[in-house]
Amino acid sequence: MSLAETTKLDFQDRLLSLGLARVSEAAALASAKWIGRGDEKAADQAAVNAMREQLNLLDIAGVVVIGEGERDEAPMLFIGEEVGTGKGPAVDIALDPLEGTTLTAKDMPNALTVIAMAPRGTLLHAPDVYMEKLAIGPGYAPDTVTLAMSPAARVRALARAKGVAADEITVCILERPRHEDLIAEVRSTGAAIRLITDGDVAGVIHCAESEITGIDMYMGSGGAPEGVLAASALKCMGGQIYGQLLFRNDDERARARKAGITDLNRIYTRDEMVTSDVIFAATGVTSGNILAGIKREPGWVTTETILMRSKTGSVRRMSYRSPLR
Ligand code: FBP
Repeated sequence: MSLAETTKLDFQDRLLSLGLARVSEAAALASAKWIGRGDEKAADQAAVNAMREQLNLLDIAGVVVIGEGERDEAPMLFIGEEVGTGKGPAVDIALDPLEGTTLTAKDMPNALTVIAMAPRGTLLHAPDVYMEKLAIGPGYAPDTVTLAMSPAARVRALARAKGVAADEITVCILERPRHEDLIAEVRSTGAAIRLITDGDVAGVIHCAESEITGIDMYMGSGGAPEGVLAASALKCMGGQIYGQLLFRNDDERARARKAGITDLNRIYTRDEMVTSDVIFAATGVTSGNILAGIKREPGWVTTETILMRSKTGSVRRMSYRSPLR
């Protein structure tokens, strides 16, 4: 069997995906004691340390493509860092050990630990710049909504496709001054808006389970790395996402070029951000619609993790109770 075939076979290994769930669980457990303590940095550091330690136990030859930052900014889990034992399949790793550091520090909903793994060279190396994002859940025809449409046109198009009036559509948007015009235009259609203060990976994932979350569409700009993580999740759950990198200065453009991006204006579809099958795991830190947060009881701590594989479309939810250490 050729090396490529072995790699492919190994990548399909279900045990490996369970290992990935342990990685996100470990990061969540480590951040648990920082929930509501007002210290974002400590919460993040605890998650980073634990995620890295657990990731390095996996039998993979992994390279971090979405991580904590450039090598000179982040001592751990930086872009390009090799992770795993080096013995298994060659994979790209995208991670955010704590997505929603402020949510964690303030004990607000929807903080997650997130990790995705795909064959080497198949995840977009998104630089740490903003990305304009647009996402909807599964069951709609391709290009039902696009970034080329105005925000109001997107609401009307989605309402038509869903067979409801525009005022029955709910859009999730990050509450930021830069989104004031976007919010006003979406409101002008009669649609409802769920404003979130942070955490747009969760924001996008909400679209994939709209009957539970009540959210139909995600719009607005946020971190580009988070865009690739969200695309990985939607590739497993179904749903569409478009992303376009946004640059505020030459330094950001240089970051993109360094990451190998030549067309700075390109609009990426979900399958252009994640070009192969992907495994995605996330663990709830604080409670949200998608995942329960960490629960502490005397002597015990319980986490909830979602583990998904795009290859099979499987979605596994795992509750893990472990003794408090
Ligand atoms: P952290 O995990 O670093 O706290 O980031 C949270 C987040 O809200 C992301 O979900 C989002 O993509 C980004 O920050 C938005 O950036 P900004 O706060 O600059 O608008």
